[in-house]
Amino acid sequence: MKWIKAESYEEMSKIAAEIFKEELQVNREMVLGLATGGTPEGFYKELVNAYKAGEISFADAKSFNLDEYIGISPENEASYHYYMDQQLFNHINMKDENIHVPTGDTSDLAKAAADYDAMIEAAGNVDIQLLGIGVNGHIGFNEPGTPFSLGTNVVELTESTREANKIYFDSLDEVPTHAITMGIQTIMNAKKVVLLISGASKQEAYNRLRSGEITEDFPASALHKHKDVIVIYTDVK
Ligand code: GLP
Repeated sequence: MKWIKAESYEEMSKIAAEIFKEELQVNREMVLGLATGGTPEGFYKELVNAYKAGEISFADAKSFNLDEYIGISPENEASYHYYMDQQLFNHINMKDENIHVPTGDTSDLAKAAADYDAMIEAAGNVDIQLLGIGVNGHIGFNEPGTPFSLGTNVVELTESTREANKIYFDSLDEVPTHAITMGIQTIMNAKKVVLLISGASKQEAYNRLRSGEITEDFPASALHKHKDVIVIYTDVK
């Protein structure tokens, strides 16, 4: 695991975007693994700017997002699908058929989960997976206690996660109780992982990851077993 300290949120976003841009410039068919949340917003701005400046093209690239809430449609403004459209997809030239976000509004979630892993595998696996981290150490929506061996699956969200994400909803009651997420194993199959950690609320998660302990109680710790992980952090001590 390689650790890079950024002096600011902007610098963290730029360093992360640079890693993706460099890959895309040599591999036009790059498979991007993407994340949502407040942390990657600056990263997406950098990618959009690079696209607009003609430095990169997504014409032959594919993307797979980490996760999605269960029970809300892609048109719902709180959905991760909507977030991705606003932050990235509406502004770049990735083809619709190459954009993948797990399906959370289907009656057959088990099939949606299995199909998602099959699609990622058929695409040759993710080249670079972007990750944020939850205050409890979750990655994607893999909450503490999740077996590291799981592929894409349906999870029940913890109260702390629902509480942290309620800013995107009118009230806590409206925050979905379940989500579909790439599993830890799906994430581990990515060839490279870039994890962003930003802000005082992530201090404890940062410390725990830095300690090197590997435990299913702290999902992000699985990444210690991956051979190519870059953690870019800012505003944590
Ligand atoms: C959500 C997402 C995660 C994200 C985490 C942290 O729970 N499922 O993928 O990393 O929130 O979000 P933020 O960056 O807003 O702190």
